[in-house]
Amino acid sequence: MTGACFAEVGHQVTCVDNDRAKVEVLKSGGMPIYEPGLEEIVARNTEAGRLSFTDSTAEGVEKADVIFIAVPTPPLPDGSVDMSFMERVSRDIAVAMKGYKIVVDKSTVPVRTGEKVAETIRRYCKAKVEFDVVSNPEFLREGFAVEDFMRPDRVVIGVRSQRPVAAMKEIYKPFDAPIIVTDINSAELIKHAANSFLALKISYINAVSIICEATGANVLEVANGIGMDPRIGRRFLDAGIGFGGSCFPKDLSAFIHIAGQVGYDFRLLREVQRINAEQMERFMKKIADTLWVLRGKRIGVLGLAFKQNTDDVRSSPAIELCQRLLHEGAILRVHDPKAMTKARAILGDSVTYVDDMNAVAEGCDALVVATEWDIFKKLDLDRARKVMTHPIMFDGRNLFDPVEMERLGFVYKSVGR
Ligand code: UGA
Repeated sequence: MTGACFAEVGHQVTCVDNDRAKVEVLKSGGMPIYEPGLEEIVARNTEAGRLSFTDSTAEGVEKADVIFIAVPTPPLPDGSVDMSFMERVSRDIAVAMKGYKIVVDKSTVPVRTGEKVAETIRRYCKAKVEFDVVSNPEFLREGFAVEDFMRPDRVVIGVRSQRPVAAMKEIYKPFDAPIIVTDINSAELIKHAANSFLALKISYINAVSIICEATGANVLEVANGIGMDPRIGRRFLDAGIGFGGSCFPKDLSAFIHIAGQVGYDFRLLREVQRINAEQMERFMKKIADTLWVLRGKRIGVLGLAFKQNTDDVRSSPAIELCQRLLHEGAILRVHDPKAMTKARAILGDSVTYVDDMNAVAEGCDALVVATEWDIFKKLDLDRARKVMTHPIMFDGRNLFDPVEMERLGFVYKSVGR
């Protein structure tokens, strides 16, 4: 993603991955993930000779003045971060370095990782060449990654000296975004603090949704009302069945862990996690209270991805919901516009995969909306009502209008309304 977008603005880019199969797919014009717009950019820039792929770190390092590290930093069972990929790639880069390089960390990492990377490179670089380590955190949202990359709100560049600053600014010049230069530790912290704050915003509105439900207020109206204050902002105030994905849950745990290491119990963020977990519980309870017994009930689930515009199902609340419903004995018919293949790797044959979203409702006792795909708003509700044994919808993403749903003859339950 980063490589393709840098090529798109005219830079010469070599993408390195140690997964040879992935490199071969990309070389032959394929795309291992679904991300709107990415395939075209990769094709265009490969064709133009600005973008190439290799599994050789030595080759990538040799060709580059600036090396971006974008490896996974997955969570460990205790909530801390697995830094083994980061350590490994730092060593590989060090061994391959024959002249001055700028080594930029784009992966989400705990504060002080830059120091470790520098130490590692110093230790393993036999040529003893000069280098600079830079922290340049990534703020892309999956599903909107190209858009976010091409039009960033800000570019954060964390440095230890001024030496790499000019080159970094040059790289980002075509993007016309505000650039802030900080020390490395601050840049690293900005990433965890930003993601945790966004997760906090979601948990906040989810907590408010509980009060709304108890008082007959409407969480959408509350979100609109508070979101118009520019100090608050409307985005990331959509109540639902909670946040998931490969970033927020992991980054929250990591930040809590980092805080713990410096002697601070980040209770606020632990509460954010707790509210998120409870949101799913509450939604399950809503379904169970209405359907009474779930065993043997046929339920149609719309959405499997952790959010719209992606095929990513990692830590997807929708998948968790399916697993819980299955555990209670429900029979599931599921659909997602992009994530069916990846969902199958987790759910296997325990559910029926339905290609047409309008066919999901057939013979169902209830429909559940689990992912906020825009396309679901175009669901043929008349048809759904007719083919369901009971027209009940549990909308975990507040996609439909309660008044309209009732008018259409649905028993409709959403979140915070
Ligand atoms: C998140 C951040 O938004 C990006 O800025 C960041 O760069 C990225 O993590 C990362 O660290 O790489 P992402 O995980 O792709 O991006 O997805 P989001 O759009 O943030 O959504 C995360 C989850 O929150 C989804 O499950 C979504 O359904 C949920 N969500 C989001 C809500 O429940 N309500 C909202 O109002 C917004």
